[in-house]
Amino acid sequence: MKRLIALLLVGIAMLGAGEPRRIVSIDPAVTETVFQFGHGGAVVATDMTSTWPAAAAALPKLGYIRQLNAEGIIAQRPDLVLTSDKLQPRMVIEQLQQAGITVRELPGAADLPALRQRLLGVGEALGESAQAQRLYDGITARIDAVARRHPAGGTGPRVLFILHLMGGDVVCGGSGTAADWLIRACGGRNGIDAPGYKPVGAEALLAMRPDVVVAMSTGPSGPMTRERIVAHHALTGLAAVQSGRVHLVDGTLMLGFGPRLGEAVEAFADLLHGDGAAQR
Ligand code: HEM
Repeated sequence: MKRLIALLLVGIAMLGAGEPRRIVSIDPAVTETVFQFGHGGAVVATDMTSTWPAAAAALPKLGYIRQLNAEGIIAQRPDLVLTSDKLQPRMVIEQLQQAGITVRELPGAADLPALRQRLLGVGEALGESAQAQRLYDGITARIDAVARRHPAGGTGPRVLFILHLMGGDVVCGGSGTAADWLIRACGGRNGIDAPGYKPVGAEALLAMRPDVVVAMSTGPSGPMTRERIVAHHALTGLAAVQSGRVHLVDGTLMLGFGPRLGEAVEAFADLLHGDGAAQR
């Protein structure tokens, strides 16, 4: 009996040292990865854009990743905070560490090297490194298959990717953004050359003559609708808008750069080329 109790105590101690039991996950890509690895049961709260899978959407929300405060996170008594370098303001990381909380901050960039580090970083934190590598390989295989059908740098459709319509501005994804990466991965051409997410004026939009307009279905300015796009003074004159080539997409799926990136690329290619890539 004494031996059994001793073994149990050792087991509990090992669990305590090894596996995090109260995770706060701040970044949809990170949250999705934790759930993908089967550790969703340990997540106690997330940021507001961690909306997939449904079990993650149902968890308490601590605010937007770029507008956080440390108090809400500390109140969850996490033994691990998993996040990315998108987290703002930066002082929150320091405040969490000062409160004695282990923080694991992963690269948030929208490219494949950062995706790999993100998946492997979450895998390492949860003892799932082999699964992380397999997941990454599966994603890149799907991306490569789309790239073979629709090589980058060709004469694919010119795309205008709208992040939001806040304050009357049309804020679009330029070079170096997740939107730009996605467009290129699907053999499209980004209508915006300037770097980052930028407001673009009516004249520049008309001159760009996009073949397809894509917008996030939910963002900082609330839900997006086709009606809002069609009625917008800077968009209403575009041939793509007048002929109904307007698509609303789930921003977390398409721009989140998480474990569903392979699925996102297939769905986006389907949307640009209508070739059924998502069904293959
Ligand atoms: C439901 C609300 C929101 C959703 C679904 C949302 C979603 C997104 C997505 C998918 C992106 C592109 C991918 C990324 O870099 O993360 C993005 C970028 C961005 N969001 Fe939000 N967002 C929301 C609210 C807000 C709010 C309230 C702010 C104001 C602080 C904000 C500020 C930004 C900024 C500045 C970027 C561009 C970052 C860059 O330059 O790379 N968002 N958002």
